[in-house]
Amino acid sequence: MKVIGIVGSPRMRGNTEYLVNEALTVLKREGFETEMIRLSEKNVAPCEACNACSELMDCKIADDFQEIFEKMEQADGIIVGSPVYYGSASPQVMALLDRAGFVAMKKGRTLERKAGAAIAVARRAGANFTFAQLNYFFYINGMIVPGSTYWNVAYGLGLEDVKKDEEGLQTVRNVAANMAWLLKKIHAA
Ligand SMILES: Cc1cc2nc3c(=O)[nH]c(=O)nc-3n(C[C@H](O)[C@H](O)[C@H](O)COP(=O)(O)O)c2cc1C
Repeated sequence: MKVIGIVGSPRMRGNTEYLVNEALTVLKREGFETEMIRLSEKNVAPCEACNACSELMDCKIADDFQEIFEKMEQADGIIVGSPVYYGSASPQVMALLDRAGFVAMKKGRTLERKAGAAIAVARRAGANFTFAQLNYFFYINGMIVPGSTYWNVAYGLGLEDVKKDEEGLQTVRNVAANMAWLLKKIHAA
């Protein structure tokens, strides 16, 4: 089974990447194949609301979306991490999720029953809102969301500051362990 971790920060080696890596490390230890996708290395334009996906069953904008969406469809679990920007998820994350949501819906709900986990990281405020915002995507796509010991939020400003937020790190490790447990149960049935 495979879990992908999407790092929604435009900043390489930042706090979002650190947290997503922490989650993927737990899943790897549990025997899952894992892959990290950094949106900082990708070009994903925002949705143009053209509705071409209704006919194409794909997004007409030819960029890195297609490659990432294919990995989302192939994965058993999807982790989405975002920095908090003005109280919300980053535009890089929302560009991907808006397009992925529409294409998945037009193709016949292709993300249904995958496991999904959100991670939000802020300097000070907006993490819970962003966490909820990311979870809206999982819910509307019929995905299954494992819990943790807190909401999956953590705090830090500079690169890898989040290393000092031990409770945030533990929350992320716990949701990853619960995702591993959930996927093993689903696939054993
Ligand atoms: C444009 C911008 C807006 C931000 N807005 C907020 C905010 O609303 N609340 C907050 O606590 N931190 C805010 N921050 C700080 C980031 O959320 C914080 O530095 C985070 O750790 C960045 O994650 P990264 O290291 O993965 O890039 C903002 C940063 C930027 C660049």
